[in-house]
Amino acid sequence: INLQSTTMKRVILFVAACALGFSCSQPQSLQDRLTIHDKEINEIIAQMTLEEKVEMMHSKTIMSSEGVPRLGIQDIKYADGPFGVREEVADGFRPKGWSLDSATYFPTGSALAATWSPELAYDYGNGIGVEARLRGKDIMLGPAINIQRLPVGGRTYEYFSEDPILAAALAVQYTLGMQDAGTAACVKHYALNNQETNRGTVNVIVDERTMREIYLKPFEAAIKEGGAMCVMPAYNKVNGFYCSENAHLNNEILRDEWGFKGMTVSDWGGTHSTMGAALGGLCVQMTGDNYFGQALIDSVRNGALDEAVVDAKVREILRLRFAIEPVPEDVANTIMTSQPETQKIAYEIAQKSIVLLKNEAGNLPIAKDVKKIAVIGQNAVLTTAAGGIGEGVKTLYEISPLEGIQARAEKAGVEVVYAPGYKNYQMRMGWGRPSAGPVNPLVANSIDEPADPALLAEAVALAKDADMVIFFGGTNKSIETEGSDRKNIDLPCGQNEVIKALYEANPNVATVLISGGPTDLRYLAPYSPAIVQGWWNGLEGGTALAEVLFGDIAPSGKLPFTFPLKLEDSPAYATGSFPGEGSGEDLFTLMYRLDATGYTREQIQEYIASLPDPVSEYREGILVGYRWFDTKDVPVMYAFGHGLSYVDFEYGALTCKQKKDKIQVSFDLKNLGNMEADEVAQLYVKRLDSKVERAEKELEAFERVALKAGETKNVTLEFPVSELAHWDNETNGWVLEPGKIEILVGSASNDIRQSIHTE
Ligand code: BGC
Repeated sequence: INLQSTTMKRVILFVAACALGFSCSQPQSLQDRLTIHDKEINEIIAQMTLEEKVEMMHSKTIMSSEGVPRLGIQDIKYADGPFGVREEVADGFRPKGWSLDSATYFPTGSALAATWSPELAYDYGNGIGVEARLRGKDIMLGPAINIQRLPVGGRTYEYFSEDPILAAALAVQYTLGMQDAGTAACVKHYALNNQETNRGTVNVIVDERTMREIYLKPFEAAIKEGGAMCVMPAYNKVNGFYCSENAHLNNEILRDEWGFKGMTVSDWGGTHSTMGAALGGLCVQMTGDNYFGQALIDSVRNGALDEAVVDAKVREILRLRFAIEPVPEDVANTIMTSQPETQKIAYEIAQKSIVLLKNEAGNLPIAKDVKKIAVIGQNAVLTTAAGGIGEGVKTLYEISPLEGIQARAEKAGVEVVYAPGYKNYQMRMGWGRPSAGPVNPLVANSIDEPADPALLAEAVALAKDADMVIFFGGTNKSIETEGSDRKNIDLPCGQNEVIKALYEANPNVATVLISGGPTDLRYLAPYSPAIVQGWWNGLEGGTALAEVLFGDIAPSGKLPFTFPLKLEDSPAYATGSFPGEGSGEDLFTLMYRLDATGYTREQIQEYIASLPDPVSEYREGILVGYRWFDTKDVPVMYAFGHGLSYVDFEYGALTCKQKKDKIQVSFDLKNLGNMEADEVAQLYVKRLDSKVERAEKELEAFERVALKAGETKNVTLEFPVSELAHWDNETNGWVLEPGKIEILVGSASNDIRQSIHTE
């Protein structure tokens, strides 16, 4: 940051002071640190009227809640999250059109997860936290850390992984990084928001063991190890109760067991009652005050609710207010939100997230004798910062894949030609209502529209005339988005036809998939000797991708989720538990798009109330993601943890020892190639004689290791013995079963190189 003006200096000093002040004082556990001002806070509460207390417990604007103006306590300011600070919005999420609120667009959740780097997750959270301070924000609505249960999930791209250990490690560091910058992290969506279909009404039926071992793990870690100050209960119900009024989740588990001392804020529109939410652990209703407004005051006044319950919530809100220093009005929003330092973080993450899925004929990196490249496919020019509903970032800039390739090719004296190849599907504003205006010839009417003959012919002509074809396929943010799940994971708009025709014209093809979640590659794979998963990769995504394609850096991302061979193989489909029954519409999203629906909020609420309650029963239990495919021996397209490099790595024999309550596994890892490259070494545990149902193997530890050409490093992976415990539904507690285990170490869940037995 260029320290030119006094204002800039003040901003920077302010941010630095917050970060320092926060990380220097280190009493007790991270959660207990939130209580250090309780005495003062209690004195403040004693001076407050009931009206003042309740004023703090609902929205003031769409992105703020009230402080205590009479006592000098400032409002709390929120922003979305989780891939960058969202632009300033007015009610109805309408952009305010400010000029300094362009932020850094970071790679989305699954891309960050593909780095398998907790260190980078720290930098990611820290970078967003710093930019949030520049905007005067106290709480960022992120990280989003639910488990990716469904390949079709509308928010799969926001979330980290199908594996709780990977998701937890990233969630902890993201949270620490953000809070070290002086901004509170609000982990969301607690809990079991694993589908968008009926997300506002669906009742998730899940057994306690599955919940504890899989779905709650990332939240538990973010609270206990990350010290998250804020939690957002999700829209859905869990075992019969809305998350915003789920006493088991919010009181018994979050507060009593995990020791959470911060505040909870409902997802926007996700509060459903006064007494239920008050007793079920909610602090702040977002948005509106129909439950936590006059109705709450009345409940106290008529004796239905003890005022101590209100006091406890106000105490939790004030703890966060005391931990997070308000940014002075004349300091906030005085310089551009996006800063070069944070842009660099986003860039590095993009470089390390790209996954080489396949490189059969060695088409990548682009050979030196390639002088002309045909880039085909609209996803090459697609920008991905905006869209996806709440998670869009107004980015300061964004390098598209085509721009990245053009800039790099120019340096190498390589010619690049481009054709759109296929039409792209775009969600019409207004959720399905036809938009007025001229028809765009590059926009498809539906996802299933076949290839356009004219676009196809143009693309084939370019392919024939080039030395190499780079095909850009995948989805976009109209297809993968909050508020709906995909119908299937097929490549949209005739992309399969296009790749076949291109391959027939020129077999020197590499495919790059620009998407946040998995796609069905059965039809594309035979015509695509090289495949790269390129993600929605932040504002430097195109630059990073070009570096990988041209071989400046070796690809080093690993899949954080499985690419099933076909959707029906995946656990929720195979067990018939998804999609369940019900309307399928996202009703809460509609409530915020009244302009598009033409209905009033009351009419939509009435409609919601009239619908039968949809249910989602998690029949696959603990066998989520690769745990299912491995255990049931179901073949996959690309396995969890898979990702190739331009070099090979050699794994040496394992040595294993127990040090206190940790198991340590050491081995030599050698880069056999002639370029620098990172490998993500993965450690899985297989139970050999367990009395309870177990997955075939489970990830327990991993590490990203940087190795120069020919270099060998000794790597030690460790995990706590307690990780081997399972949740016992009978005794309602963790049980560490004695028995034999096999430790498996390798390059992917299906590429185990070394193993060792132990007791
Ligand atoms: C989303 C949250 C988001 C909130 C505020 C909701 O629709 O589920 O993730 O933080 O809106 O924009």
